[in-house]
Amino acid sequence: RLSVVIDTDPGVDDTWAILFLAAQPDVEIVAVGAAHGNVPTAVAAANALRVLDVVGLDQVPVAVGHPVPLQQPLRTAEFVHGADGLGGRAGPPSPRRVSAESAAEQLVRLARQRPGELTLLALAPLTNIALALRMEPNLPRLLRRVVFMGGAFHVPGNVTAWAEANSAHDPEAAEEVLRAGFDLIMVPLDMTEHAWADASWLKRIADATAPAARFASSVLETYVALYSDAHGTVGCVLHDPLAAAIMVDESLATYKERQVMVELAGHARGATLIDERKFRVDHGGIPDQRTTVRIAATVDAATAMDRVHRALITSEAG
Ligand code: BDR
Ligand code: CA
Repeated sequence: RLSVVIDTDPGVDDTWAILFLAAQPDVEIVAVGAAHGNVPTAVAAANALRVLDVVGLDQVPVAVGHPVPLQQPLRTAEFVHGADGLGGRAGPPSPRRVSAESAAEQLVRLARQRPGELTLLALAPLTNIALALRMEPNLPRLLRRVVFMGGAFHVPGNVTAWAEANSAHDPEAAEEVLRAGFDLIMVPLDMTEHAWADASWLKRIADATAPAARFASSVLETYVALYSDAHGTVGCVLHDPLAAAIMVDESLATYKERQVMVELAGHARGATLIDERKFRVDHGGIPDQRTTVRIAATVDAATAMDRVHRALITSEAG
């Protein structure tokens, strides 16, 4: 059984990822941390509560994360996810309250309580994880693994020409986390762009009656409109569900081990860099003392999408 803490900024694809995980019999969602990113942290937390309520996970605590990136102003993406982060369809607030502790405090507390047992699924800028790491430098040994949806290596970014949202929205945090020595799998934009939900796939979910499918479909409007415009055909990319599916079944991807640097200055601030040279000369590159992470390099997106579909249409009522 996989015991998971999710750090997330719901957000449409985050919502789908949570609903997917909620339907996995072998996954225990231990807690959720809300991150800034798609929306401010308070909105992300309110949405996380709503999504958990939809599938009856109203025991799962939600802690609010740090409101701003470590060293830059907050930037959010309501134009992608809707004014309320859920396509304008968030609905009434959950009757539940968020936890008293912060997302970073929650993560540290849980990791200390259950050393080596917890997997962290990071679906948002890494501010909360960097702060947790500062509170508990031993965090890389206390967590079983981190799976991070973020970065872009050989494809253009989606926030700037070079940088993906979850690294661009807190480059310093990404840099701290990626070099900290976690057992870490990165699912970059290069892979998640293959998680394309086309019109007929989306319709099969829209036609389903399960509460998860109904809620997931209901929040799509702004998100699908934006992706459909950009791609010239109806559909959307399900970044975070792909990372969740890979966390549940790592055999859905193949991996390469690399040292990753995050660009902290200039035009490409927030870009993730790896050294892919076949032939190295000694004129710089990534310093060798950095720890390596595993980067998803190929993915069986068709199987992953099939699993997301099945999870959403068969989930139980809350
Ligand atoms: C990532 O950024 C957010 O917009 C999505 O939720 C996803 O986590 C994709 O770059
Ligand atoms: Ca996200």
